[in-house]
Amino acid sequence: MSFLSAELEPLPGYPVVGMVGGGQLARMTHQAAIGLGIGFRVLSATPDDSAARVTREVMLGDPDSVAAASAFARACDVVTFDHEQVPPATLEAMAATGTPLRPSPDALIYAQDKLAMRRLLERSGLPNPQWAQVGSAEEATAFGEAQGWPIILKTSRGGYDGKGVWLCRDRAGVVSAFESGYPGAWLAEAYVPFQQELAVLVARSPSGQAVTYPVVRTVQTDGICTQVVAPAPDVSTGESGRAQSVALRIAELTGVTGLLAVEMFDTGDDVLVNELAMRPHNSGHWTMDGAMTSQFENHLRAVLDLPLGDPRPRAPWTVMQNILGGEPDMYSALKHVFAADPALRLHLYGKAVRPGRKVGHVNAYGDELDSCLDRAVHAADYISGVIDE
Ligand SMILES: Nc1ncnc2c1ncn2[C@@H]1O[C@H](COP(=O)(O)OP(=O)(O)OP(=O)(O)O)[C@@H](O)[C@H]1O
Ligand SMILES: [Mg+2]
Repeated sequence: MSFLSAELEPLPGYPVVGMVGGGQLARMTHQAAIGLGIGFRVLSATPDDSAARVTREVMLGDPDSVAAASAFARACDVVTFDHEQVPPATLEAMAATGTPLRPSPDALIYAQDKLAMRRLLERSGLPNPQWAQVGSAEEATAFGEAQGWPIILKTSRGGYDGKGVWLCRDRAGVVSAFESGYPGAWLAEAYVPFQQELAVLVARSPSGQAVTYPVVRTVQTDGICTQVVAPAPDVSTGESGRAQSVALRIAELTGVTGLLAVEMFDTGDDVLVNELAMRPHNSGHWTMDGAMTSQFENHLRAVLDLPLGDPRPRAPWTVMQNILGGEPDMYSALKHVFAADPALRLHLYGKAVRPGRKVGHVNAYGDELDSCLDRAVHAADYISGVIDE
């Protein structure tokens, strides 16, 4: 383990925030840290990770390792995360250094463990789909017979980008999900025939101040979030108010500090909670250009216990479209895209291009939803090489 950079003295008088993980969320959090003037350090597995390419103070080390993570925590005033999958022993070791972890391990558990999250919501009377913990294909089949097919099977921990989630239409589907051999706990959920998927982002500080961003629509393709529309269309004021109050209530119940993203299903006139994330979230990338304060800045303000920034939108509509790689040479696409749409905002993550991998996103904002959708989709498709005009 070593620091990548030689110069490590932080600027006196400013706190140092450390982020565990060197992915694109850390990279974009760093952008916000620059504006706040604070120190920002990243614990990154490799020097090629998205944030390690741009952050001066990078500690190289396995973010899962007790030794690396606790040395990192000692070098920071407050530690936060760009992903949730940090093992419990590592969290414990970091907490033992005395450096505050935001969110705390006690909060983070609800983003790491879907069973813990379902139990909390149930205890608190918050809207869950029908669910059950299942220990075998037989139990999951019995759940399917009782609820009606299809059902969704999930691993309680470790899922991301739709991995660890199976749509099962019958017993054979259940058996094949269990053949993945996942050793931990499983849960079964009734399949929710949702009209759209929604997300609500809350920033909450240690002193309990909380703000919520507008409810957004998220669109997943093959389990990966590819588009976000802010605010979510076709949602009544009553429903969006409910979604926001559910999210605020979860923030309070879990005691999260920093950002909380609550993924939800819109069932037509109500919402059900799908899952939680406690970090900057793909559903909040639109805020970089579309909101008064970006999610990354509000995450930093929250973990530093600074007053939170205004989450309101700057324009009637913002559409975020993820760029999935694609053509290795994305740079030469920029000439066309920027010439066609000078108001388009681009964020590339400095990641090597591989088919289907998230390598960036664009934001298009304006007065007309259809035109924002066309502009964002066109730009993302052109940059990833799906279209050539
Ligand atoms: N009970 C359900 N009913 C219908 N669809 C579901 C259900 N649970 C999950 N899905 C679908 O599967 C997708 C992935 O599920 P989930 O968000 O739980 O998994 P994940 O891989 O942990 O998520 P992420 O990609 O957000 O990290 C959801 O966005 C939704 O489209
Ligand atoms: Mg999800």
